[in-house]
Amino acid sequence: MKDILNELEARREVARAGGGERRVAAQHSKGKLTARERIELLLDEGSFEEFDMFVTHRCTDFGMEKDRPPGDGVVTGWGTINGRQVYVFSQDFTVMGGSVSETHGAKICKIMDMAMQNGAPVIGINDSGGARIQEGVASLAAYGEVFQRNIEASGVIPQISLIMGPCAGGAVYSPAMTDFIYMVKDSSYMFVTGPDVVKTVTNEMVTAEELGGASTHTRKSSVADGAFENDVEALAEIRRLFDFLPLNNRQKPPVRPFFDDPARIEPSLDTLVPDNPNQPYDMKELILKVADEGDFFEIQKDFAANIIIGFIRLEGQTVGVVANQPMVLAGCLDIDASRKAARFVRFCDAFEIPILTFVDVPGFLPGTGQEYGGVIKHGAKLLFAYGEATVPKVTVLTRKTYGGAYVVMASKHLKADFNYAWPTAEVAVMGAKGAVEILYRSELGEPEKIAARVKDYEDRFANPFVAAEKGFIDEVIMPHSTRRRVARAFAALRGKKAAMPWKKHDNIPL
Ligand code: HXC
Repeated sequence: MKDILNELEARREVARAGGGERRVAAQHSKGKLTARERIELLLDEGSFEEFDMFVTHRCTDFGMEKDRPPGDGVVTGWGTINGRQVYVFSQDFTVMGGSVSETHGAKICKIMDMAMQNGAPVIGINDSGGARIQEGVASLAAYGEVFQRNIEASGVIPQISLIMGPCAGGAVYSPAMTDFIYMVKDSSYMFVTGPDVVKTVTNEMVTAEELGGASTHTRKSSVADGAFENDVEALAEIRRLFDFLPLNNRQKPPVRPFFDDPARIEPSLDTLVPDNPNQPYDMKELILKVADEGDFFEIQKDFAANIIIGFIRLEGQTVGVVANQPMVLAGCLDIDASRKAARFVRFCDAFEIPILTFVDVPGFLPGTGQEYGGVIKHGAKLLFAYGEATVPKVTVLTRKTYGGAYVVMASKHLKADFNYAWPTAEVAVMGAKGAVEILYRSELGEPEKIAARVKDYEDRFANPFVAAEKGFIDEVIMPHSTRRRVARAFAALRGKKAAMPWKKHDNIPL
């Protein structure tokens, strides 16, 4: 009996050693943790239960039958994050470069199937040389099986991808279909075709970092939702993100203990909006002052900064925030901002996370770049996403909201539940100057007359009361009471039941 126990322990030791000391040292020398070290940091201490530690590949080509490392380059299983269940896979670059074989893929599929069955999120840690070259089409099939599961799990359980090394070729499409992608600066990259192929085909000279590093994907492509300095920070922040999310689409997000008075008054908000309508202010200040304990998990902060998205809590409950940022492009909507916010709104709606929208938007960004780039379709994404969202929706207008952008930004007309406005809000078709220049074109040569017309227009429309008179604004509120009003609104909406008409699925403009 003792021998058998010892054999188990010995076999476990071999599996835990991954690709061996030399390769583990090489991994560490790149500033990267091993697959198992990452799981240890991600999950609650001692909570990891591993599956398939002894699985080996079945390939017999290229002498592969002589090299069958247990685990086959990926560590899989489940554990908890702050006591809540999560399924995990972590590719082990020290074993055949973390490359995906038939059995490696099957291990990932097994935990994805269990996650779906048991209603718990999946976190995938990617660090892989891609398809196992020796296995050919069997490896491609394995990817295909993972992709199909990513698709079926979308909107059912949250899926989070951490890119902590190479992720290239078709392999990128699994993370791409998950809800969030996070990268590690200087040690991770993602691209469909690498620098060598790029050079051959387009004659462009580009490094892997320039082509698909964290900076590229958080600032230019928006493929990634954020990047961290190193593995340790990345894993700690993913734990933080996880705490905001429900386990699946049938459960509410977790309620955390909170120590912040929901009725807290913030007198400084009464002077947040400057007297000069053209002067920007930082919308993040409002978000931080409304959130429980000022805790805000921002998503895609380096991309389309004219709109802010992320999670806060109110009375301990997760709320998704979307807010125009007057500090960048005057907070206008453009292609990037619309896409960024639309996907976030859809995530919140899929997972029953209420949405709080702060609005200060001068309209859509004009220009050939925007029109040729399809701002019509991209802007429609945000409009569509808000209109189809049936979760509780609370909107606060802080300053201007003009034209189509007014309707798009969670207006009453898109079935928002509570639409509040600060006294500084203006709801109009456009700004006073633009309106007067169209209405009184014949007087444009007479500056005094025009100035009087502008003043008249401002007096009549540059306020929230015209919209409030029509019931499009439910209440004009004092800025200092925003946290209390918004928290009460969401509390009133906890029993909300709303549904869209039956359909197979919608046809959101893609
Ligand atoms: C088998 C692989 C492998 C792979 C790496 N290794 N990639 N084994 N299949 N795809 C092995 C290496 O042989 C080596 O084994 C170990 O992993 C570490 O690799 P190194 O090259 O020494 O590491 P490094 O210098 O850090 O370079 C990493 C790398 C490079 C840039 C990822 O290994 C590389 O270019 N690999 C091939 C990438 C690739 O073309 N993949 C296919 C992409 S197409 P030893 O024994 O020496 O430790 C694809 C299609 C997916 O993935 C389609 C889905 C539908």
